[in-house]
Amino acid sequence: MNSDEKPILRIKGLNKFYSGGFQALKDINLDINKGEIVALLGPNGAGKTTLISVVCGIVNPSSGTVTVDGNDIIKDFRKTRSIIGLVPQELTTDSFETVFSTLAFSRGLFGKPPSPTYIEKVLRSLSLWDKKDDMIMTLSGGMKRRVLIAKALSHEPTVLFLDEPTAGVDVNLRKDMWEIVRELKAEGVTIILTTHYIEEAEEIADRVGVINNGEIILMEDKDKLMAKLGKKQLILDLCDQLSAVPQSMADYKLELSDNGMQLVYTFTAQGDRTGITALMDDLKLAGIAFRDLNTTQSSLEEIFVNLVEESS
Ligand SMILES: Nc1ncnc2c1ncn2[C@@H]1O[C@H](COP(=O)(O)OP(=O)(O)OP(=O)(O)O)[C@@H](O)[C@H]1O
Ligand SMILES: [Mg+2]
Repeated sequence: MNSDEKPILRIKGLNKFYSGGFQALKDINLDINKGEIVALLGPNGAGKTTLISVVCGIVNPSSGTVTVDGNDIIKDFRKTRSIIGLVPQELTTDSFETVFSTLAFSRGLFGKPPSPTYIEKVLRSLSLWDKKDDMIMTLSGGMKRRVLIAKALSHEPTVLFLDEPTAGVDVNLRKDMWEIVRELKAEGVTIILTTHYIEEAEEIADRVGVINNGEIILMEDKDKLMAKLGKKQLILDLCDQLSAVPQSMADYKLELSDNGMQLVYTFTAQGDRTGITALMDDLKLAGIAFRDLNTTQSSLEEIFVNLVEESS
């Protein structure tokens, strides 16, 4: 195995008990590879921010280990912190400082030599260059979010955490964010983001994780997840009521609904053979006529809601 194949982030047996004894993280094990975009989903209070805060050194783990590019987050704190950029969930931007000086200062905090050229590049990529001399407190909410991202990038991190980067931002800014995330990925940056917008995970993530009650209940390649759990249904509105599915059609595992007026055929979304043609032929043979047909497909949203309900 060459060094590129080692996970950039490795979390092993991580537990977090807050001071009152509440367990916010339960035996978290997770490897993330360089250049991946991982979306963490989960209901309020699931433990997403706690997990990110541990990795970033803001919250102490109760047990377990976390390494970033092979460096332990506790023993090599300065090193790991310099590799990581964090865009926190809470906006803390009531600053009199200008956009440019905020970035320059933040970069300095991580011990990086000044680089006005790099800061200009970051500000331009976030469409903030014309705001560079504005006081942060005078910016709109969306602009402040952009500043938070710029600030998180000021020390050239290679692992970026975005804790709900698009909460409360408009559609355009959300799309801009996705574009920025893709550009960063193209530059080799690893991105871990949390979101309550399932379509966001569906849009940009390579892998999707679901956290519920402090546990990772799922971590899966997005495409595989959609293929495995995503189902399509063909719904036939029948001309005449059926009291039962004919024996000759048992193989299709059809379901009768709407008081015998509907037949529902479920098939996987990714299969190249859906069986619909054969089904149509067999319906004809069985003398079953239909007036209308519709298809539905389960979204990542439905998959997610089902998972969280099952694990609660
Ligand atoms: N400092 C703290 N002391 C005690 N309990 C805490 C503390 N911070 C968080 N918790 C608890 O830990 C749990 C996980 O919180 P966390 O902020 O990690 O959730 P989250 O998944 O980020 O939720 P959200 O989607 O609302 O941001 C919650 O039950 C929360 O109340
Ligand atoms: Mg949170």
